[in-house]
Amino acid sequence: MIRRYGQLCTVAYSAGAINSTGEIAKELGFTKVMIVTDKQVEALGHSQKSIDSLKKANIETVIFNGVEMDAPDYTVEAGGNMAKKEHVDGIIGVGGGSVLDTAKGIACFTANEITVSDMIHHAPMKNPPVKFVLIPTTSGTGSECTFVAVITDTKNHEKVGCFSVPSFSILDPELTLSLPKDITVYTGMDAFSHCTESLTSMQPNPHSDLLAYDAIERIVNWLPVAYKEPGNYEARDNLALASNFAGKSFNDSTVHVGHAIAHSFGANFHIPHGIGCALVTPTVIELTAPKFPEKIKKVAKIMGIIVDSEDGVVIGKTVADSVRKFMKSLNIPSCKELGLKKEDVLNCTDYVLSEPLRNFAGVPVTDEMVPKLLEKIYDTYQ
Ligand SMILES: [Fe+2]
Repeated sequence: MIRRYGQLCTVAYSAGAINSTGEIAKELGFTKVMIVTDKQVEALGHSQKSIDSLKKANIETVIFNGVEMDAPDYTVEAGGNMAKKEHVDGIIGVGGGSVLDTAKGIACFTANEITVSDMIHHAPMKNPPVKFVLIPTTSGTGSECTFVAVITDTKNHEKVGCFSVPSFSILDPELTLSLPKDITVYTGMDAFSHCTESLTSMQPNPHSDLLAYDAIERIVNWLPVAYKEPGNYEARDNLALASNFAGKSFNDSTVHVGHAIAHSFGANFHIPHGIGCALVTPTVIELTAPKFPEKIKKVAKIMGIIVDSEDGVVIGKTVADSVRKFMKSLNIPSCKELGLKKEDVLNCTDYVLSEPLRNFAGVPVTDEMVPKLLEKIYDTYQ
């Protein structure tokens, strides 16, 4: 099979990189920009830094601060209509995963005469998105360097999306220094799950593997530090890179059944995406280790675990148990602690069966296996 790998978009990376927004916007030929953000990010002053930089570069700005959690379709429509009315020629998303996904959707919607519903269900689009720059303020999604926008179809209660490639991304670890502990941990585990799923998908490549191993090492070493010392810049720097590398990794490879299940948890239980990703990860490792024993053994080595076996089942169980311990040390709640009963989790079966990502796992995931995986997720992390 011919596999492709590449660098999707250029990244400007450093402490204070957000202050180069104006310079980058100028390079891209922007004259009037719409900032896409939410009220929390706005209150922290992050989007204002971009606006100040754009002003210095004599670029006009308008602000859309109506982004909501999980990037609902109606916010993409509202932001897109504003961008069309204001005749902007560039979009800049400043925020967490929902902001970046919304900005990606808005960029596509603005460039095309199409309904949001058709767009997120992959109707063909005539035009490429309006040029856009993404500036993450969390370390988890990696969305600033992936080609997919995950948008919530609020009518059908499902996560769908569209393809939208950023023109540029700005990675500024300083923006994550004020993140609360719980968000730090959930987003960090989202990035961790991107790595383990990327390594074990049906289409990994040497480049995506390399990025995933590096990101795992940074997360294992630095997520506990950021959890204990949220203001530790070195930890934030490593986690920002980990999130970005993990995003680049799964963009070339792909996430799979873990994300199919995490999406079902998000849609049914309205829990943060990163909690769902954390909960599924040990089970995904056990599922895929027999097919990828060497890769999971390498993950073990990175985590400092000694596995004295070549048996994929043993390797998978050992690493999965270590990930569960890692999660406990970071106070990640179990399904039970989230108030879920086993039947609630089993009720996600139909959603997972209809989620196309299930089919991208490096091992077949049959219909019969799905409830068993859900049960295992519930039972093995208490
Ligand atoms: Fe994710």
